[in-house]
Amino acid sequence: MSDARELLDRLSVEQKAALCVGADAWTTVPVDGVGVGAVRMADGPHGVRFVADEGATGSESVPATCFPTAVALASSWNADLVTEVGAALAEEAAALGVNVLLGPGVNIKRTPVGGRNFEYFSEDPYLAGELAVAWIDGLQSRGVGASLKHFALNNQEFQRNSIDVLVDERALREIYLPAFEAAVTRARPWTVMCAYNRVAGELCSQNARLLSDILRGEWGFDGAVISDWGAVRDRVAALAAGLDLEMPGPRPAHVQEIVDAVADGRLPQERLDDAVLRVLQLALRSHATEPARSVDLEAHHALARRAAAESMVLLKNDGALPLERGTPLAVIGRSAKEAKIQGGGSSRVTPTRIESPWDALAATGSELRYAEGWAADLLPRPELIREAADVARSAAAAVVFVALPGSLESEGYDRTELALPLAQAELIRAVAAAQPRTVVVLNSGGAVAMTPWIDSVPAVLQAWTMGQAGGPAVVDVLTGAVNPSGKLAETFPLALEDTPAYLSYPGENGRARYDEGIFVGYRYYDARRTRVLFPFGHGLGYTTFAYDDLQVSASRFEAGESLRVSFTVANTGSVAGQEVVQLYVHDAETSVRRPVKELKAFAKVALGPRETRRVTLQLSERAFAYYHPVHARWVAEAGDFDLLVGASSADIRLRARVTLTRGTPVPFALGRDSSVREWLADPGGHAVLAPLLRQIREGAAHAMGSSDADEAIGMDLNRFLMDMPLASILAFGESSPDVSATRLVDELLDRARAAASPQDGTPA
Ligand code: BGC
Repeated sequence: MSDARELLDRLSVEQKAALCVGADAWTTVPVDGVGVGAVRMADGPHGVRFVADEGATGSESVPATCFPTAVALASSWNADLVTEVGAALAEEAAALGVNVLLGPGVNIKRTPVGGRNFEYFSEDPYLAGELAVAWIDGLQSRGVGASLKHFALNNQEFQRNSIDVLVDERALREIYLPAFEAAVTRARPWTVMCAYNRVAGELCSQNARLLSDILRGEWGFDGAVISDWGAVRDRVAALAAGLDLEMPGPRPAHVQEIVDAVADGRLPQERLDDAVLRVLQLALRSHATEPARSVDLEAHHALARRAAAESMVLLKNDGALPLERGTPLAVIGRSAKEAKIQGGGSSRVTPTRIESPWDALAATGSELRYAEGWAADLLPRPELIREAADVARSAAAAVVFVALPGSLESEGYDRTELALPLAQAELIRAVAAAQPRTVVVLNSGGAVAMTPWIDSVPAVLQAWTMGQAGGPAVVDVLTGAVNPSGKLAETFPLALEDTPAYLSYPGENGRARYDEGIFVGYRYYDARRTRVLFPFGHGLGYTTFAYDDLQVSASRFEAGESLRVSFTVANTGSVAGQEVVQLYVHDAETSVRRPVKELKAFAKVALGPRETRRVTLQLSERAFAYYHPVHARWVAEAGDFDLLVGASSADIRLRARVTLTRGTPVPFALGRDSSVREWLADPGGHAVLAPLLRQIREGAAHAMGSSDADEAIGMDLNRFLMDMPLASILAFGESSPDVSATRLVDELLDRARAAASPQDGTPA
């Protein structure tokens, strides 16, 4: 097989330019004569959306397994399961001749009303990153490439093609980029898809900082950058910024623009070559593996069922579940029969078949009575509600199926509210009033507010956008055939007004300012002590788990060393189950504002009744670090940290304190504006300034007419001076015009620099 560089040398500029723009809606341009085949792409992420008509994006796709969507898979917290789904997706893609499946989507759920939240994993960057790595590993292990999307900051659908996202550097690095970073550096996706929106004034498709500096420069990405469909405005600017392949095509005008730009020197030939090389490598990779011949669709349906069951989150259960075998049931709500399996937009898959909850309940042989409960148009229908209440009253228990309609959760626009449609909320209350044993099964692709009805029902099962086999999965969980083990990958707030981005989403005048900074999801609710409906990481099951005996490999450690955190988890109940154990880190001593806790490791542990297992999790330096915008790097500051092991972000069971004795070495960063506090936090600065402090205070006191070095005009001088630049303090005492405060500070800075190198990141 030829190598890409060799092929490159055989291409004319026109052929090269042609390779940088798609041939049609889904494929790249083949190059006749040199043996470069076209690359076929298809949408994911939760099924193969293969559209036979290569000229169209929106037509019906051929049947493929519709797996649970990302919001569901994330709630499984099971990376192995996600890898299995990735591998199954690859088998189906390969059988259809698809080389690149357009997923996973790892954008962070900044607001619970994001239209595509069902397609994304989490509000937490670590969880999203781990699952993206798992998904890509599974997919690419079978010779199909991933397209990690949408890079970056596509966190809302509102004005997604134009909105300019303004985000501070820490939030960018700590919240919005890490899932991409983990996926790129560890799973090496074949392609990365740029987002539609702007970031800091520049479209992502022509954003050199994102596409070249960060993605390639910092993370070493060696695949092809492709555009989101139609995201390219200026083809030459996009190419110059690092965008290799524009999709979809054909766009002959763009090809010509590339040729012209090379001819008149606006685009360096090397940049074009670079892009073409990556497209050629993609093509060679794509054709290196034989397409799979047959796919076991039955096995994939079974996998979709297992994945759905493992993803469902039992939000509340006051003893109503599991249902005993043979319980006569009132089955209420049209989504029992018309199952909601996915959301709207480019990810929409034509399922191979759908098993509804009704089908699956009927197969159990239980006595069932059905009432539609709510109408497809969601308009109030008192007669449906009355009928549902009557049916509920006559049964031993009622299961109410409610779902956000597909059109409410979609690509291209956001949800407008958090609550369920009124017709469904009223139905739940009426049924619960008629039947105390009422279980709500909710199909939504994201958080839903439940205040008007949650207290009236004893049990709520969140079944998500559950995929084509969600029906039997719901029944598995309701009956206890599967012990629920999903946990929330996103907080369920009480109300939209409580959410972190409430005051700045969706932005105005074309700009979305991410004013909440790093305080996204539970990081915000924790910091503000805001009550939520269900916290991040929450999920119940039919057994109980006890945590014990936390051990850490060292209580004192240095930057560069890892910690092993181990503890026992015991299944204290009488049925087998799986527990998602979560390890959060709290920085007890920090010079910058940090979240109260952040997820840094997790595991899913299967335990038989009364079984105990020891779990070991690993924490590297990065788990303790924040992104330091001045040093432009991750810095773990020396000091104390608490390791919190829990069953959810709000249910911490074990804790241990560790001390980072030597933080990440950072370059000297004191300057003329540095405050006394900053000087003292810096080892070199401390060495130079500490001995002079009293004298400096006396000078300041004297200048204020006080003879007391600690107090002047009712002020605690120590506190008063602490956050002032040294030069400003010295300027107080500037008696002689010959001795400039600035010059003095410059001298002290020289001495501190000499005393410093290299130093620790030590908190103030
Ligand atoms: C979506 C992408 C998708 C592409 C191709 C775009 O509208 O944002 O996620 O992969 O279309 O269908």
